[in-house]
Amino acid sequence: MSTKKISLTGIKPTGTPHLGNYLGAIKPALEMANSGDFEGYYFIADYHSLITVHKPETLKEYIYEVAATWLALGLDPKKITLYQQSHVPEIMELNWILSCFTAKGLMNRAHAYKAMIQDNEERKKDLDHGVNMGLYTYPVLMAADILFINSNVVPVGADQVQHIEIARDIANAFNHVYGEVFTLPEAKVQEGELVPGLDGRKMSKSYDNYIPLFLPEKKLKKLINKIKTDSTEPSVPKDPEDSIIFDFYKLFATEEQIADLAAWYRRGIGWGEAKLELFNVMNDHLKGPREIYNELMADKSKIDKILEEGAARVRPKAQEILKEVKKSIGVL
Ligand code: TRP
Repeated sequence: MSTKKISLTGIKPTGTPHLGNYLGAIKPALEMANSGDFEGYYFIADYHSLITVHKPETLKEYIYEVAATWLALGLDPKKITLYQQSHVPEIMELNWILSCFTAKGLMNRAHAYKAMIQDNEERKKDLDHGVNMGLYTYPVLMAADILFINSNVVPVGADQVQHIEIARDIANAFNHVYGEVFTLPEAKVQEGELVPGLDGRKMSKSYDNYIPLFLPEKKLKKLINKIKTDSTEPSVPKDPEDSIIFDFYKLFATEEQIADLAAWYRRGIGWGEAKLELFNVMNDHLKGPREIYNELMADKSKIDKILEEGAARVRPKAQEILKEVKKSIGVL
């Protein structure tokens, strides 16, 4: 059996994947698994989406979009196990078991739930307005996602760190009673700058300032042209460090390209020219993946097969661990 550490992460299919997801989560997760030091288990957290997505056709499409995104960006399903959360019922069994070791107070402190309550308070609504139990216990399911195969490392964006800490707390509470059954997972956050959105704030679906990853070329160009700039003349020298266009450029360009564009900024660059440079590096980077993505979305049977194989690979592992857990608690 492999003694490699397990790297595991999930993406919630709640909308079309964007650049922030790629640079903040997908890219580092793939680099980690492709380094050869980890066994990768990457999945589509469809039951997490059910908290908010209640249209079956929409949910189905989002699931395919996330799967196709992983694959288009370089996930090799022979090396990394790609699966859909709901295909692994063992996770749901563990979810219940773990919920019996989760203090209610711990859930009260979870960010997503707290934000919702605060929002209701500001709008003078009932505090529980719009809160279903899925949202409230979201971190328990996430702990089950992570603990069901004893993951070691969880590459995630900074906003998910609290959830990994909660998973550790829950694992500890269980281990405290039954001994060292669960491995304590660690969050691995991508270092460096946050991916900015079109308005300069963090790129996020909720701010509606994101760039979808696989936009057709023309639309990508259009979106880049919409980035707000001031009215300084092209010939006036500009500070590259004070420009969202340059921030984006840095995410895709080589060191040499970055230095060249910075020099051009300082000599004086027209915003239209800067935007075109940005479009070119971004498009070069995304062209290949975009083609693969479109092919996969046009023939989804390939995705179905990969997800089936992924579930078949992860389930025996899950069953083995679940058996230990069940023995520990005394139901087996
Ligand atoms: N909560 C994560 C997000 O919104 C998705 C997720 C669900 C996840 N389960 C996970 C991430 C387990 C890492 C590990 O992005």
